[in-house]
Amino acid sequence: MALNFKCAYLTLLIIATATAVDKNNFKTCDQSSFCRRLRATKDGDNSYVLNLDTLHVSDNAVEAELKNVEADASFKFILTSLSGSIFRVFIDEVKPLHPRYQVQGALNGEPQVAKLEVLERTKEKVTVRSGDNKAVITASPIKIEFYKNDVLVAVVNEKGLFSMEHLRTKTPEGEGDADQQLKEDPGAWEENFKSHHDSKPRGPEAIGVDVTFPGALRIYGLPEHADRLALRSTGPGGLDPYRLYNLDVFEYEMDSTMAVYGAVPVVYAHSDKNTVGVFWHNAAETWVDIGNSKDTNVVSSIVNLVSGHKPENTVDAHFMSESGVFDLFVLMGPTPKDAVKQYASLTGVAPLPQYFTLGYHQCRWNYNDEDDVINVVDNFDSNDLPVDVMWLDIEYTDGKKYFTWDPIKFAHPNAMITNLTSTGRKLVVIIDPHIKRESGYFLHEDCLANDYYVKNKDGNVYEGWCWPGSSSYPDLLDPKVQDYYKALYSLDKFKGTTSDVNIWNDMNEPSVFNGPEITMPKDCLHHGGWEHRHIHNIYALLYTQITYEGLLKRSSDRRPFILTRGHFAGSQRFAAVWTGDNAAEWSHLQASLPMCLSEAVGGISFCGADIGGFFNNPDQELLQRWYQTGVWLPFYRAHAHIDTRRREPYLFNEDVRTRIRNALRLRYTLLSLWYTLFREHETTGEPVIRPLFYQYPNDPNVVDIDNEVLVGSSILARPVTESGVSSVNVYLPGGPDEFWYDIEDFKQYQGTGVTNIPVTLDKNPAFYRGGSIVPRKDRPRRASTLTHHDPYTLYVALDSNKSASGTLYVDDGESYNYRNKKYLYLHFEFKDNTLTSSLIDKTDFPTDAWIERVVILGPPAKITKAKITSKSLGSVGLETSYDGEGRSLTVRKPGVNIREPFTLKLL
Ligand code: NOJ
Repeated sequence: MALNFKCAYLTLLIIATATAVDKNNFKTCDQSSFCRRLRATKDGDNSYVLNLDTLHVSDNAVEAELKNVEADASFKFILTSLSGSIFRVFIDEVKPLHPRYQVQGALNGEPQVAKLEVLERTKEKVTVRSGDNKAVITASPIKIEFYKNDVLVAVVNEKGLFSMEHLRTKTPEGEGDADQQLKEDPGAWEENFKSHHDSKPRGPEAIGVDVTFPGALRIYGLPEHADRLALRSTGPGGLDPYRLYNLDVFEYEMDSTMAVYGAVPVVYAHSDKNTVGVFWHNAAETWVDIGNSKDTNVVSSIVNLVSGHKPENTVDAHFMSESGVFDLFVLMGPTPKDAVKQYASLTGVAPLPQYFTLGYHQCRWNYNDEDDVINVVDNFDSNDLPVDVMWLDIEYTDGKKYFTWDPIKFAHPNAMITNLTSTGRKLVVIIDPHIKRESGYFLHEDCLANDYYVKNKDGNVYEGWCWPGSSSYPDLLDPKVQDYYKALYSLDKFKGTTSDVNIWNDMNEPSVFNGPEITMPKDCLHHGGWEHRHIHNIYALLYTQITYEGLLKRSSDRRPFILTRGHFAGSQRFAAVWTGDNAAEWSHLQASLPMCLSEAVGGISFCGADIGGFFNNPDQELLQRWYQTGVWLPFYRAHAHIDTRRREPYLFNEDVRTRIRNALRLRYTLLSLWYTLFREHETTGEPVIRPLFYQYPNDPNVVDIDNEVLVGSSILARPVTESGVSSVNVYLPGGPDEFWYDIEDFKQYQGTGVTNIPVTLDKNPAFYRGGSIVPRKDRPRRASTLTHHDPYTLYVALDSNKSASGTLYVDDGESYNYRNKKYLYLHFEFKDNTLTSSLIDKTDFPTDAWIERVVILGPPAKITKAKITSKSLGSVGLETSYDGEGRSLTVRKPGVNIREPFTLKLL
């Protein structure tokens, strides 16, 4: 036992002090037998044929038998039309030797079907239509072409890489001749990686297919990778495929296709004419090769160059998964907005979070004790630095036993929490899935007694190593375990907590220090007889779903806040994500933007990166830039490794403190905008932050831009993520008629492309889009919870027609009363020198908040006064004034409560 703990401690030390990823711990495609096998499929090498004699047509679907003619294996093929311009292609074995796994929990309920009609049917082809979408299914070999408005946008199995290994019985060495290819692959029936052996009791069961997108310029998606937003070409001899396998990869490498903590198997192929998405609904280890004809097809490029012919670009994706059924959704677009919303209609949206979650979060591994926590908050207060949430990492527990408190350092959690909440602050504590195997620990005892643990391949409780040393892992597939875990969050069980305590789920990939690739062996067994291999990528999703439902059970009228590291498609319904163990390096700061933008189009808008970098110590410039950059990502939390120097912002000199304070204050002025966007995300599925291609889909120049972030559609930020620069290039989109206003000095720019903007350490370029109205709360406060009745300033950024519009959503910021119409949703409109405010929905919410200022950017000339008219005010004259350069016009003290519709006329 003692020796084992020593091992665990050493492992921990290696992990804790790592400075660069140890690639040897993680497989390449070549080291993964199914990836190697599927990647070796040759173009056109296809033996899967649909038997159209068996075609069955219903109102919403067509079905037929699919045969692997070489192996004499039989499958059922179903193509269904779903509402909202989506097709689903589902294939399963007719009589599998064992059932094949179908993913639980990613879809937000069963998708709604839509009407489909057969347009044409021959012996070789069937053409079906649903609305303006068409699918042409070719029988031999199977191929499906998808058309939007008669334009071909996607082809499934164009290259003939479709493969579905049917389950089979292992033939003894030297006997039988079935499937030569599998026999030749030494890893098909069992596989070794480093010292780990995978027994593969069901043998090979991989599936793969290529999807080609004619005319597409770029392909996006597949979070999570520490890479650019636009996916790069991969392929044998070049980059490894993008890997989706939730892994604890500490100090991950930049510009890499390696797997990290999350896996969201959705892609969007995009051109300035069309966008189409594919969601690969599979929870097993997955690799995706990306092809881009522009990058790879040298011969045709030369031919085109010589002939002067402008080639049509094509991108393609080759999906390869270790097991499961074939379940692919085609999101027919035709715009990025449509495709992203279609994806949200399948996997759900993030429910509106509590208001405070959008403020600033202060974390570190670890705050030492209760006094430390309170002192940090006191120091924030005495330095006028706003903060909403304090976080406790694993050291708050009694010896890494979750749901307990260290009896010495955190002996009075309730008093500490009361202290925090008395100034409007909240607490988040960490709860990881590994359970310390210590006799007397209630959680371990309960899990042992009730048979709640995941088993190893022999059916005994699986033991791995994590922070506590020897640990076991709850079997989250078991409904009894789910119920048991949910109950753990009740206030009488998790003593010392209150409904102001929220939860951080970490290490839930799951991380196992001594497991293959730092995770659970694939042949471990779960409830229902499933191997871990079948469900690996949804372990974290299930864990956060349980936490979410547990918190709801605990406090039914508080919206749960959960942060998770591991994630999958659908995780947005339960938790926010962060990008894990980054490092205090400029490249990691840069990567935080594409990583979160990729998550946002992957349905997960609530994303952030550890401010300052988790590993190592940032210099002052990097730290300040990180605070300034984080303002523009939805989740805004500083965090640091246990071995780093303390870096709370008040520890720095006045210059640094001021810059960080300014960044924090800017964030707080915009909380109403973030909150409104989260509400709009909940109702429409639109991402809260957006890459340029999303908002400006017809501009081919923006397809590679991923160092700029759009907050909704009204602010464009180009954070400075480079050291020592005195200017940065900003691409301002939209054309000469689109105006952009610097949010600090209100200077007006046109959306004519690259603009060089001078910067200092104080300056981080951000612009209001002309045509938008942004409500802000400009009074500095210590925490967001103290701002609810503060007045608003409306920033009205005029477009080239001297018009603008915007929205504002307001409710109590924490309960579900908004679902009973207790909210305000306002529409502001400026045109003909008149600003009007009206209610979008017929709802109400009591608030004292009023409008203290209206600031008009790009204002009309010669305005001398204004007049506001509302029910309670009647008509009142107001003072106006231009700034020195005439860039803005301020209307002072309209004084109207935001509940009240009004008209404000410039005179
Ligand atoms: C790994 C997490 O990524 C990190 O944020 C945390 O501080 C450590 N685990 C310790 O809990």
